[in-house]
Amino acid sequence: MSKPSSPRPETPLPQDRELVLKVIPMPADTNGNGDIFGGWVMAQVDLAGAVLPARYVRGRMATVAVNQFIFKQPVRVGDILSFFSHVTRVGNTSITVQVEVFAERFSAQGQYVKVTEASLTYVAIDREGKPRPIPKEGLHIPGLVD
Ligand SMILES: CC(C)(COP(=O)(O)OP(=O)(O)OC[C@H]1O[C@@H](n2cnc3c(N)ncnc32)[C@H](O)[C@@H]1OP(=O)(O)O)[C@@H](O)C(=O)NCCC(=O)NCCS
Repeated sequence: MSKPSSPRPETPLPQDRELVLKVIPMPADTNGNGDIFGGWVMAQVDLAGAVLPARYVRGRMATVAVNQFIFKQPVRVGDILSFFSHVTRVGNTSITVQVEVFAERFSAQGQYVKVTEASLTYVAIDREGKPRPIPKEGLHIPGLVD
């Protein structure tokens, strides 16, 4: 008699990151394979990544770089996606964040699969679109070691 298969271990959600976005992709977001188009995922990560920097730059900002972007697993229609973020660097005019994306698969809610991981840098800009210093008064970013 075959042994009963053990339940698939769940990927724990990060406890030291902030949940900055939740979204469910729609059929209009698919590519030719029927999976979710990578560009759609990148757009959501850019939006999610901007949340923590927006708290510190106190004004306009722009994405200057996507330093790393890893699509670990496909994203599918109906997945519940959770975007977690933390600040990894604060420079003179820029803030870099790490964004991790977890999927709860359709019909398997409560089990989390890491689907994407990315690092992005945002720059505080002035009215002319030029870099400006990030206000340092009272700047305290939990967990940031610099
Ligand atoms: C963002 C922008 C104003 C920066 O201007 P810039 O003259 O290139 O700025 P600087 O070279 O002085 O760099 C500004 C900061 O960005 C960082 N930066 C610049 N290029 C970078 C890169 N390729 N990767 C990581 N960080 C970078 C610098 O290290 C600096 O950070 P620091 O002050 O904290 O050390 C300008 O590049 C821009 O307008 N880009 C277009 C932004 C945009 O349209 N984004 C949406 C894309 S669809």
